Amino acid sequence: MEIRIALIPGDGIGLEVVAEARRVLEAAEAAGLARLSMESFPHGADHYLATGETLSEATFARLRDEFDAILLGAVGDPRVPDNRHARDILLGLRFRLDLFVNHRPARLRLAELSPLRGGAERGFDVTVLRENTEGFYTGAGGVLREGTPGEVAVSESFATRAGVERIVRFAFEHARATGRSPVTLADKANAVPHVYGLWRRVFEEVAAEYPDIPSEARYVDALVMHLVRDPDRFSLIVTENLLGDILSDLAAELAGGKGLAASANVNPGRHALYEPVHGSAPDIAGTGTANPMAAILSAAMLLADAGAAEAAARIEAAVDAALRESVRTPDLGGTATTEDVGRWIAARIAD
Ligand code: NAD
Ligand code: IPM
Ligand code: MN
Repeated sequence: MEIRIALIPGDGIGLEVVAEARRVLEAAEAAGLARLSMESFPHGADHYLATGETLSEATFARLRDEFDAILLGAVGDPRVPDNRHARDILLGLRFRLDLFVNHRPARLRLAELSPLRGGAERGFDVTVLRENTEGFYTGAGGVLREGTPGEVAVSESFATRAGVERIVRFAFEHARATGRSPVTLADKANAVPHVYGLWRRVFEEVAAEYPDIPSEARYVDALVMHLVRDPDRFSLIVTENLLGDILSDLAAELAGGKGLAASANVNPGRHALYEPVHGSAPDIAGTGTANPMAAILSAAMLLADAGAAEAAARIEAAVDAALRESVRTPDLGGTATTEDVGRWIAARIAD
């Protein structure tokens, strides 16, 4: 079956890394590993600044109805300081397609890339499952008396029982399906009792339904300390939106860096958007030094979820081979360009 993919390269290095992910997807198709159709959308800062459009209703409807998956590069541009287009495109798609699971695996793929003392021997393999539709991200709140000394700003975080329960249940099902355990809840229930208290109660209720799967709840501040000191304690972390954003960058860095961190935003069985965890990196955009591996591994996650398991495995193996053979961009200590890495991985798949 053909997999219909919408590409939204977006801004900055998003454009550069999605070009390489596309090259690798095309190589997988040429090797007979998957049948694909790909269409690229121009949405991002340039498009917004030129047309005033962030994401039109018509485009949203096409993305929702005509594709099996979306592959996004990154959105964010210094010329759009309020980040409006990124909110409409990335957060808009997460909310409106109800992509409630943000699946962010972080596994050390090559020992020498560990930043931890002794980490090379110990490895690192932690998956963050981030709730993706609630918390501080909905935009609830407002500003009063803007620009005056009496200015008030309120951003409200909220959690719903249904919203917490579905991601926590997903985590336990994921643990059962993959053998990952313990399931660790990261919260801050000691300081923010309403929202995180609900998380903790629901977590304990759902955990009781999975007595065979070890689980524990931890305060996020102590958890980050343990994650650096003793990462072997963790395997699957489930958490609220903002905490998950922060934890997944930390986990990515402990697994060798953001240039390698792939992710999926999923409403299981319905819609999915894949993207590298990193952003548009304006500091290196246009220099040809961005690491495309996170985008390429995001494409592999897409293929795996869409049923093209062998294509996904071949891409993963080709990335591992590139790392081993030092075909690496400067973030990983190499001298290869973005395009060198993409071409090398694509050629390896063709072999
Ligand atoms: P960032 O991830 O873009 O960059 C952080 C640092 O990591 C930078 O020094 C950058 O050069 C480096 N880096 C990131 N990806 C890299 C790669 N593939 N290869 C090599 N180095 C890489 O985070 P930021 O600077 O906080 O954000 C820049 C913009 O991106 C902002 O507008 C932000 O809102 C946006 N953003 C978008 C997404 C997304 O679309 N999913 C994610 C995060 C940030
Ligand atoms: C991410 C990004 C986004 C987030 C930003 C760009 C809104 O940091 O995907 O991790 O906070 O979710
Ligand atoms: Mn982030």
